[in-house]
Amino acid sequence: MATTAVRGTFLDFVDDPWRHVGAEQESARFHADGLLVISDGRVADFGPYAEVRARHPQVPVTEIADRLILPGFVDGHIHFPQTRVLGAYGEQLLPWLQKSVFPEERKYADREYAQLGGQHFFDNLLASGTTTIQAFTSSAPVCTEELFLEATRRNLRVISGITAIDQNAPDWFTISPADFEAAAKDQIARFHRQGRNLYAITPRFAFGATEELFRTCQRLKHEYPDLWVHTHISENPAEVRGVPPLHPGCTDYLSVYEKFDLVGPKFTGGHGVWLTNDEFRRLSASGGAVTFCPCSNLYLGSGLFRLGRATDPEHRVKLTFGTDMGGGNRFSMLNVLEDAYKVGMLNNTLLDGSVVPSEQDLAESERNKLSPYRAFYSITLGGAQALEIDDLVGNFDVGKEADFVVLDWNGGPPATAWHMSLLLPDGAPRTMQDAAEVLFGIMMVGDERAVEQTWLMGERAYRKP
Ligand code: GUN
Ligand code: ZN
Repeated sequence: MATTAVRGTFLDFVDDPWRHVGAEQESARFHADGLLVISDGRVADFGPYAEVRARHPQVPVTEIADRLILPGFVDGHIHFPQTRVLGAYGEQLLPWLQKSVFPEERKYADREYAQLGGQHFFDNLLASGTTTIQAFTSSAPVCTEELFLEATRRNLRVISGITAIDQNAPDWFTISPADFEAAAKDQIARFHRQGRNLYAITPRFAFGATEELFRTCQRLKHEYPDLWVHTHISENPAEVRGVPPLHPGCTDYLSVYEKFDLVGPKFTGGHGVWLTNDEFRRLSASGGAVTFCPCSNLYLGSGLFRLGRATDPEHRVKLTFGTDMGGGNRFSMLNVLEDAYKVGMLNNTLLDGSVVPSEQDLAESERNKLSPYRAFYSITLGGAQALEIDDLVGNFDVGKEADFVVLDWNGGPPATAWHMSLLLPDGAPRTMQDAAEVLFGIMMVGDERAVEQTWLMGERAYRKP
């Protein structure tokens, strides 16, 4: 077995910080001088340098000084074929799909174009410190195949599947339920649990799926209960209004997915901006997850996700955070954290009672606040837990895949270094509190330039030029 080790300053999470209000540091683990021992790509040992080194005196060590090392970031909701339509001007969700997205995704039916797209996509992910994704593709089988093939070459962990739409899209973009089923079965056989690939049944959204398509998804889930289910839910008001008339008998958005037995552990609905408390309650009871995509929700004007409602202990739902690139205009999960914090602050202007006193809700307001603990938990262990892959990734527990990101807290825009010098009079984080402050600085003042290196299963896959 090939065994190596990395020495540096490490921070990861062992619990949900929302469960430790007032003592969030209890959810995290910090080693100012730590050692991560990696054997065949997995964590073999982890802890304070002196202790771990004594157990592995012979292992060759890579020293990474003056950096903060975190588990690789988990992007719970991203669109592989949208890299080139980042930042499309002027439309909200439904016209944006028709004008910008479907015409671009159509090109991914061409294998060469999909391969070129794959290079750009994975280069951007690695430069952002993202090591696990749950991704939409397009309705063309080639697009999904190329995603899995390139993910395999790069060795990222990917959950994905052919992304089906059979209504409310042009004929040249839809796929029939029968063709979808055939392509999905072929891909499940070729890619599911091959290398780091996992397969998701992926109806694009209830606004774009007929009853027959959902019956196909239901059959697939019954036939392959091990598969993930990935879709969109309650993103935009016009979309939300349009769903019940398409699905008779369904009174709200979630009930469409419930009707076809798709909701439960390994189900993720992206966005959830307009979910009602009752939907949150049912989703929470089922064990399904929602993805908070603040860059996209702001960019497309979809609305302000109520993080404090989703984390209400009365109906806590599992949460991943996602870029939703290209609905989100950035690849970096650090930008996601930045926008998530701002969404929380905007919600809190309403919740503090200063606008409408009767709408004051200080408990929800507290849960809305995205502390650095909540933020970085959500894009590491929290994301992995919501996707039900925390046995594989998410922190540095022994046995997990050794994916990590090396952060240079001075690596952001020109203002960064002087700002950081205020937080770090010693020049480097010595305590967990120092590390938390630095992480908040990285998410609010920095950007993906803070990502100096990205490692996948113990191998360096990216180094900032
Ligand atoms: N709903 C259905 N398709 C999409 C998409 O591509 N992006 C977003 N943000 N929402 C969707
Ligand atoms: Zn999306």
